[in-house]
Amino acid sequence: MHRVILAAALACASAAVALAEDKAGTVKTELYTVVDGYKVDGNTMKGFRTWRAAACDRCHGANQEGLVGPSLIASLKVLTKDEFKTTVIEGRLEKGMVAFKTSQQVMDNLDNLYAYLKGRSDGAITRTKVEELKE
Ligand code: HEC
Repeated sequence: MHRVILAAALACASAAVALAEDKAGTVKTELYTVVDGYKVDGNTMKGFRTWRAAACDRCHGANQEGLVGPSLIASLKVLTKDEFKTTVIEGRLEKGMVAFKTSQQVMDNLDNLYAYLKGRSDGAITRTKVEELKE
């Protein structure tokens, strides 16, 4: 009886250690993988490059904190992914948000852009400028 309990306790202890190691510096979701807050998977990296290339920061701020446009850190906690995409594709012209449907790079990277910005909004990506994670 004692031996069984001991074995179970040991199994639990090693499972806990494995989990702690996984968690050390790594956040992995369906959307992104982030290590140490700034090393990201390839798709999220493409999202960051698209953010830069499209110069979304002109209106949303260098750290997505908002400028003439709203904070995307806050917005992405509320908007669905579809709402995000529609807004970026169609814009809200009367309110000053431009449409990006003629930007091939943005259209090709909507999911990646969303992953990057969601990572920022979730607090998983702690630096604005990210680097590609080396395997
Ligand atoms: C010329 C300025 C400008 C640029 C460039 C711009 N935005 Fe915007 N954006 C705005 C403004 C202003 C709004 C607020 C519209 C409103 O009041 O509904 C907005 C709204 C948004 C929203 C909706 C926020 C919400 O809470 O409903 C998203 C998402 C968004 N922008 C993403 C982007 C992305 C991604 C880029 C780059 C690909 C970008 N924007 C580039 C000005 C801009």
